[in-house]
Amino acid sequence: MNDLEEQGIYDGPSKEVQIQKIFSEIAPRYDLLNHLLSANIDKVWRKKAIGHLGWEVCRSGCYLDSCAGTFDLGLELVKEDDFSGAVVAGDFALPMLKRGLPKITSQILPVCGDALRMPFPNEIFDGAMVGFGIRNLSDLDTGFAELARLLRPGAKLVILEFSVPPNWILRKLYHFYFHNILPVIGRMLSGHTWAYTYLPESVKDFPEPQELSESLLQAGFQEVDWKYLTGGVVTIHIAVR
Ligand SMILES: C[S@@+](CC[C@H](N)C(=O)[O-])C[C@H]1O[C@@H](n2cnc3c(N)ncnc32)[C@H](O)[C@@H]1O
Repeated sequence: MNDLEEQGIYDGPSKEVQIQKIFSEIAPRYDLLNHLLSANIDKVWRKKAIGHLGWEVCRSGCYLDSCAGTFDLGLELVKEDDFSGAVVAGDFALPMLKRGLPKITSQILPVCGDALRMPFPNEIFDGAMVGFGIRNLSDLDTGFAELARLLRPGAKLVILEFSVPPNWILRKLYHFYFHNILPVIGRMLSGHTWAYTYLPESVKDFPEPQELSESLLQAGFQEVDWKYLTGGVVTIHIAVR
């Protein structure tokens, strides 16, 4: 039994309930901890992800930010000078959306809902992004199928997600930080006993970039590619519907 199983986070519906609960509980401290624990590099990662979205092709388009949390990824898009479109930002943890509300402009449209069954017709979005959310889905294939359903043909999907660095020295440092430092700071500042233990465990159990790329192909995406950022601490996945 791994730590996730001990804490009752299994794949399937019960994982969904647990994830919704975790993010609802840590919402008040989510932004602070995000920026602190990543030494603000998370902002650079999000900006880089937006750079792969291909929004310049459809500047007034409608884009989906799935698992949007407190809107930081969608905000990077609407901050672009030439962007005049809208971002539909979906998340099933209402406290996360509420927490982010003071940051948004009218170009961001929050929707409280499940990424596995979004209340939108087929092929409605000109692009989609998921920042640090895909790892939390209880069923990855259903999540990818839903994104494929919502994107118009030719639209891009960009996924930003934690990964394990391939270099062994970096990997050792990464494991030390993720297992010894991050959970302690996370616990102290969020007041949540195990949310920040869940983070490293969920990264450990998540498919490697190559495997994830294959799942994207299976879901009907093309031109699937991925790039490591910061030595592989994070990976950007790019795919075309
Ligand atoms: C780590 S946060 C990322 C938030 C934001 N994208 C960012 O870049 O900071 C993950 C978010 O995914 C949301 N989430 C996880 N599973 C979801 C699902 N099935 N449907 C909708 N939101 C989900 C959580 O509620 C949480 O707000």
